[in-house]
Amino acid sequence: MRYVQYCKYAGLIVVLFGFQNSSAQKKTIDQKVDSVLNLMTLEEKAGQLNQYSGDWSFTGPVTKDNTKIQQVKEGKLGSMLNVVGVEKTRLLQQYAMQSRLKIPLLFGQDVIHGFRTTFPLPLAEAASWDLEAIQLSARISAIETSAAGVHWTFAPMVDISRDPRWGRVMEGAGEDTYLGSLIAAARVKGFQGKGLGNTDVVMACAKHFAAYGAAVGGRDYNSVDMSPRMLWETYLPPFFAAKEAGAATFMNSFNDLNGIPATGNRYLQRDILKGKWNFNGFVVSDWASIGEMIAHGFAKDTSHAAQLGLSAGSDMDMESRSYIKHLPQLVREGKVKIEWLDDAVRRILRKKFELGLFDDPFKFSNEHRQQQQWNNPQHIAAAREMAKKSIVLLKNHPLPGEVGVGTLPLTNNQKVALIGPFVKAVKDNLGFWSMEWEDDSARIVPLWKGMLNKVDPANLLYAKGCNINDADTSGFAEAIETAKQSDVVVITIGEARDMSGEAKSRSSLQLPGVQNQLIAAIAATGKPIVLLIHAGRPLIFDKAASHASAILYTWWLGTEAGNAIADVLYGDYNPSGKLPITFPRTEGQIPIYYNHYSTGRPAEDEFQNNYVSAYIDLPNSPAYPFGYGLSYTSFVFTDFKLSSTSLKGNQTLTASITLTNTGRVKGKETVQLYIRDLVGKVVRPVKELKGFKQVELNPGESKVITFTITTNDLRFYDDQLIYNWEPGEFEIMIGSNSKEVQVKKINWSR
Ligand code: GLC
Repeated sequence: MRYVQYCKYAGLIVVLFGFQNSSAQKKTIDQKVDSVLNLMTLEEKAGQLNQYSGDWSFTGPVTKDNTKIQQVKEGKLGSMLNVVGVEKTRLLQQYAMQSRLKIPLLFGQDVIHGFRTTFPLPLAEAASWDLEAIQLSARISAIETSAAGVHWTFAPMVDISRDPRWGRVMEGAGEDTYLGSLIAAARVKGFQGKGLGNTDVVMACAKHFAAYGAAVGGRDYNSVDMSPRMLWETYLPPFFAAKEAGAATFMNSFNDLNGIPATGNRYLQRDILKGKWNFNGFVVSDWASIGEMIAHGFAKDTSHAAQLGLSAGSDMDMESRSYIKHLPQLVREGKVKIEWLDDAVRRILRKKFELGLFDDPFKFSNEHRQQQQWNNPQHIAAAREMAKKSIVLLKNHPLPGEVGVGTLPLTNNQKVALIGPFVKAVKDNLGFWSMEWEDDSARIVPLWKGMLNKVDPANLLYAKGCNINDADTSGFAEAIETAKQSDVVVITIGEARDMSGEAKSRSSLQLPGVQNQLIAAIAATGKPIVLLIHAGRPLIFDKAASHASAILYTWWLGTEAGNAIADVLYGDYNPSGKLPITFPRTEGQIPIYYNHYSTGRPAEDEFQNNYVSAYIDLPNSPAYPFGYGLSYTSFVFTDFKLSSTSLKGNQTLTASITLTNTGRVKGKETVQLYIRDLVGKVVRPVKELKGFKQVELNPGESKVITFTITTNDLRFYDDQLIYNWEPGEFEIMIGSNSKEVQVKKINWSR
């Protein structure tokens, strides 16, 4: 069957050969793409690869340019970022419809953890280990973002990081490749929903490709140097998971990798991503990263940068203007193959067709849908659920004279002194990479408001005590007096929302300002202290912790922060979070992560001073290990069994353990499975997360948890980068975190 369809906006006659099945739809789109491509001039092709930021907000160094609208009208722009809202996107799309070929614009935005409804930071969400909730968070973000005329989010950020000095650790899923890969896939599926043809989805963008989280010194934008094995074993798998989940786009990274900037790295973008992984989406550069190859010392000038970027597989140039300035001439001079240019244009046009923008460039810019999604109560409720699940209980000692009952949860009749710079802070709850709206103060729930929503105001006292990050101690006296009138003191400490994030690397992870001094001053009153730590990363707070009876890590929890924290403080939600990243004792321990190699002189956790791999001035163990998190109840693991201790070839191993809730309240435990390969042709980590199950039990209830293990779980990259498993002895470990596990040994032969 053959039919002809007019693309009414572009006036293009797109001759289609219609077939009856979905592969025809694919061929149809490819043929539509070619029919447009064949009409394009070199300048128009370069225009599709050109992306500017809107002038309403900027997320990188600004280039003053008052010709953007004219360039849109001339077809010299394929995409814009930092343009949100039906009105603005519709206006700019109308300008695009004035261009010769009327190719629609793509609108992209950093919707990292929420658009109108702000969810907890991605690192906080990772602490929930709840893949469904994480996917729902991304799904809701996509519904709200697409309702505002935006087609594309620059997320998920899937960079593995083992260095909390790096400010962008807040944006990812922590240190573990297995957990990070599952979360990457969940977020991509959440953003892209039922597929790009739907108006409640946005294109995902797996970033930053690749190994950006391994910057030397934890300094943002810094160099990365690592073995191919480390790259493949630890840093690439979450990107592969995102690609397999259907991520429509990738974004490359600012760092150089082994001396070659990621933006100009053919091995990463053409050999691995577009070659071995057969990725059919497109790669956008990071902000001006193509032009920044000059500063790297990799490109002579912007013309050379354009040549290097396109030949390496960077399809779209965000903000550097190298492509629009130089590609037509570079093609004419034969310095850039027309095939590279056409391939990049095809990849971008294909996504515009898949989104349906050629059929209707304004389909996402729908006033009614924007209104519908603007304050969606279901979204707000979901944000509160996600926030509760993200909170990690690090300590909960009994009050003096109590046995078996922690300081938390609080009771409604206790007089509570709320002290600290975050009690009434509003915007800080949004964290970095969040959207700001005029009515934020009315709709964001700070701790103070969350507590008023929960208990009788007569039982709440307040004093700020100190600021976040200065030397002013004038508020101490009032705070001390307030504490003295209470039964228990809840102190909010941590870092401001802009102390973690892009370009926010910190050499010190200590509590800023005079927060430690305030806590010590309050401790002198003898009142029990509950610490709430607000941060985008692991902080170092040993001094504060020594004064606290209980500690909740509350990250930056978004719109519903105050309600979620109050839910946990009063036990309406029993905290279940588990750390997705190791918390160091000092900066001197960094990098410190659980799945390290043994070394020839392995050190025990605690102090040792004799020829082992340890410090002479610090125990080897972290402050809090990967996977760690307490509950208001207690759990016991018993009856750890293996279906066999000697397996062969493709047999399957079943590991089971009984989990019992031995406490007084219902609670959720995340049962974690770790495996160690005791001998390999390359050394293997002392343990690796290979599975986890979340189990909710009532007091006294028990449940048998089982894991199925195959040789797939034993595979690794050897010294030849062959991904396979080796026969030998293994340790199977199950427990509540990466430190507290029960261990059994097995042998697995070919
Ligand atoms: C920034 C970030 C990147 C973001 C982009 C657009 O520099 O590195 O993650 O998506 O620019 O804002």
